[in-house]
Amino acid sequence: MLESKVIHEKKQGTALMKNIDGPVHKKVYIESYGCQMNFSDSEIVASILQDIGYATTKDIKSANLILINTCSIREKAEQTVRRRLNVFRATKNKNTTIGILGCMAERLKSKFLEEEKLVDLVVGPDAYRDLPNLLKEVDGGRKAINVILSKEETYADLSPVRLDKNGITSFVSIMRGCDNMCSFCVVPFTRGRERSRKPETIVDEIQELENNGYKEVTLLGQNVDSYLWTGGGLKKNFKTLSLKEQKNSMNFAQLLELVAKKTSMRIRFSTSHPKDMTDEVLYTMARHKNICKYIHLPVQSGSSKVLKLMNRGYDREWYLNRIKSIKEIIPECGISMDIITGFCQETERDHQDTLSLMKKVKYDFGYMFKYSERPNTLAERKYEDDVPELKKSKRLKEIIDLQQKHSLENNLKYIGKVCKVLIEGYSKKSDKDLCGRNTQNTVVVFPKENAVIGSIVNVKITKCTSGTLLGQII
Ligand code: 5AD
Ligand code: SF4
Repeated sequence: MLESKVIHEKKQGTALMKNIDGPVHKKVYIESYGCQMNFSDSEIVASILQDIGYATTKDIKSANLILINTCSIREKAEQTVRRRLNVFRATKNKNTTIGILGCMAERLKSKFLEEEKLVDLVVGPDAYRDLPNLLKEVDGGRKAINVILSKEETYADLSPVRLDKNGITSFVSIMRGCDNMCSFCVVPFTRGRERSRKPETIVDEIQELENNGYKEVTLLGQNVDSYLWTGGGLKKNFKTLSLKEQKNSMNFAQLLELVAKKTSMRIRFSTSHPKDMTDEVLYTMARHKNICKYIHLPVQSGSSKVLKLMNRGYDREWYLNRIKSIKEIIPECGISMDIITGFCQETERDHQDTLSLMKKVKYDFGYMFKYSERPNTLAERKYEDDVPELKKSKRLKEIIDLQQKHSLENNLKYIGKVCKVLIEGYSKKSDKDLCGRNTQNTVVVFPKENAVIGSIVNVKITKCTSGTLLGQII
């Protein structure tokens, strides 16, 4: 797959890549939008490009290659990318290549090249290994595109180039794609079918991070609870496996257990799915000190009627039962959610059901969105986007206000208590303060004193806002 053998050498403090045909000074600037998976994919792309002589740069003006890793989840996300392209129009000269990666590339395919004339390259999430060939095409003066989705690709063997480095926390992807078909969601179309990554390669990547001084890893997948390693390829149904295959398979709880034993780093994961999250996962979390006590469990709606229209695979009662299990098995667990407001056919009563579910759960935080109709999804084809914009906004505001109230109430309970905080860096507001997160994923800010970034410290909480705990190292 690689074009030529690459030798890395260090010269005068800067990394210079040399391939056997001579030194190469090519620079790539990568900008990522959307979910953590996209940011993680950009690190895979950087690794593939490094092998053909590209160094990454944060200075867009010095880049030969500008890549945008795009998100299609809501219309707004796509508009942001279009606006960025307009900015690049001003920067681009005849030697700069501009490429579109990720979900918008997959969704729009060659249409992107027609619509945005300055774009030279369109590459979908499963086609990054083809980048060296595609770039050759572009060098030859042609536009290049590969948006083929794969049944096997997990980029398992690649060693990502860590881009967004604080040197402390990092992501490791454990699976790709999604088989769920939530009716509002474009992801199954842009990221393809579900595939799990070989456990040994996950453990290897995590151990490499640990050897490089990292202290926390987040295992990533669109639906981590549905992780199932059966030897590769598309996700299989556990029940259809032979007894021998079942014995040799590995589910998410088993993977968590394996990872927890193989590393002493803190472990997080995202995203969980209420229909697939088992008590086995919760017991595994409870058993291991190094698995953080935090679950992001998107609910989307508190109304069983809307959940059915959303094709989520659970109802309100099922979801509340999952929350009950979390609170019983891991009483100290932080819980967050995603909610979509104003989905098709959502009435005031359905909206009240969402507010009442929030009151029952009392989430620590949440990500709340107005429904945005996406082309070709089940909802776009079957239902009318019939909640007026003003109503969507009003409901969203009510949900956000209630969440802020709950976040503040939950944070107030920490006052006087001591949290173990992994220090990730300086606080955004002052270089006299450090910040990190407790096991529940709440941000904690405190005076620096003699503390070292990357260490875990005990912080006594003295004050809080709805978003942050403030305290002092003890
Ligand atoms: N409109 C609004 N929000 C959406 N999400 C996914 N698709 C849409 C959409 N069409 C939200 C869901 C999901 C999160 C990642 O984005 O809440 O959990
Ligand atoms: Fe989209 Fe649903 Fe899959 Fe999440 S689980 S990526 S919301 S289809």
